[in-house]
Amino acid sequence: MSEPKRLSVPQPIALIDDPDNAREREVLSALGPETLMMVGDNPALPRMPEKPTLLDFYRLRFGKTARNHLLQSAALARKAGHPEKVVLACLLHDIAMGALIRTDHGYWGAQLIAPYVDEEVAWAVEHHQALRFFADPEVNYEYPQAYVRFYGADYEVPDYLKQAYARARGHRWYGSARAITLYDLYAFEEDVAIDAREFDDLIGRHFRQPKEGLGFDGSPTAHMWRTMIWPNNFL
Ligand SMILES: [Fe+2]
Ligand SMILES: [Fe+2]
Repeated sequence: MSEPKRLSVPQPIALIDDPDNAREREVLSALGPETLMMVGDNPALPRMPEKPTLLDFYRLRFGKTARNHLLQSAALARKAGHPEKVVLACLLHDIAMGALIRTDHGYWGAQLIAPYVDEEVAWAVEHHQALRFFADPEVNYEYPQAYVRFYGADYEVPDYLKQAYARARGHRWYGSARAITLYDLYAFEEDVAIDAREFDDLIGRHFRQPKEGLGFDGSPTAHMWRTMIWPNNFL
């Protein structure tokens, strides 16, 4: 018997503008004995190893733009002489955007990595979400021109981010979160490719890779890693 055809539908969060579920129902109407819903390894995606490491996600799940963005940010922080924890925070800061979700990605990313990193690293990743929107002349950080383009010149930052910024300002880890925004490249340099293996040692020292592989260690965020391994599973 030949392999069945596998169908997938976008995540509910991407279908929220379709309250009658028309798009989902159309896909489901095509089901039959040889046509099933996606579950397990999606043949259209690179196969993940059984026990995935952090860099496996960078290599096999993240697009080129996200991967380069994170590697370039970390390389810049390292070049500027920041402590390894800050370099790691830069390497991880947009990890949720790699292959999970972009909305409020700083918060998702912080939660995703929290079981595996020092608390300061997760804190910094969470707070880059707010700090990006607030200039800090003391370290020459300006409001990104890219956001004027994305949101318009009169965009007003929502209250929850203003409050997060105010709380972060007086915090002892403010500098670590601020460093992320400093090395966050708002204009992406397409032609600078950095080998992820440059960060192998640093990851080994500061990221607690579970021996079972990310997604399979029973941590509070294992399901988030599994969602990136099998992003098109129907349920
Ligand atoms: Fe970000
Ligand atoms: Fe970024």
